[in-house]
Amino acid sequence: MPSFGFETIAYLLLFILPAYVANAAPVLLGGHFQIDGGMRAYDNRPWLGKGKTWLGIAGGFFAGMLASVLEAHFLTGTSYDLFGGQAEYYIFAGLLLSIGALFGDLLGSFIKRRMGISSGKPSFLDQLLFLFGALLFAYPLSLSIAFHPVSILFLVLFTYFIHRGANEFAHTFGLKKVPW
Ligand code: CTP
Ligand code: MG
Repeated sequence: MPSFGFETIAYLLLFILPAYVANAAPVLLGGHFQIDGGMRAYDNRPWLGKGKTWLGIAGGFFAGMLASVLEAHFLTGTSYDLFGGQAEYYIFAGLLLSIGALFGDLLGSFIKRRMGISSGKPSFLDQLLFLFGALLFAYPLSLSIAFHPVSILFLVLFTYFIHRGANEFAHTFGLKKVPW
């Protein structure tokens, strides 16, 4: 990576956007049809808890896909085109990023429950696992700029602060009960 300037940051944020959307949308669209069905695991704690629902997964997936369709429409052929004129790559990226983000988020809740952290209580896993899930799933795209160590570090830090900020916002405007 020759320089890590504004353009690189713009690329990275455009790349990761569908994952952010897929992770944020369940707050608005989810809340029904609990995935673990209320069942408890071997440690007598919930498998995932009441915060992880099928409606959230469906809403997150569709919102993430919508973000990628909009990106394909507005970025293909511009100087911020991530995939050199191939619009279908945005959709493929959106698919991997959305599924990865949702999967990572579920894994985060699974780990939180095993650690004895109850549903809705904050953990650093809230900010990180959806991002790592998205990056892991999108790795086959081999978008080298996104997987440079400096890029990963930037995304981790940026995601941490944007996630905190977004949750404060959602709390202030009554979309979330707690500001995390
Ligand atoms: N949500 C959902 N389905 C998902 C993810 C989220 O319905 N797969 C909704 C739930 O209403 C959830 C809210 O979005 O309460 C906030 O999501 P999140 O912070 O990820 O869940 P928490 O309630 O904090 O639960 P956890 O401790 O398991 O992270
Ligand atoms: Mg939470």
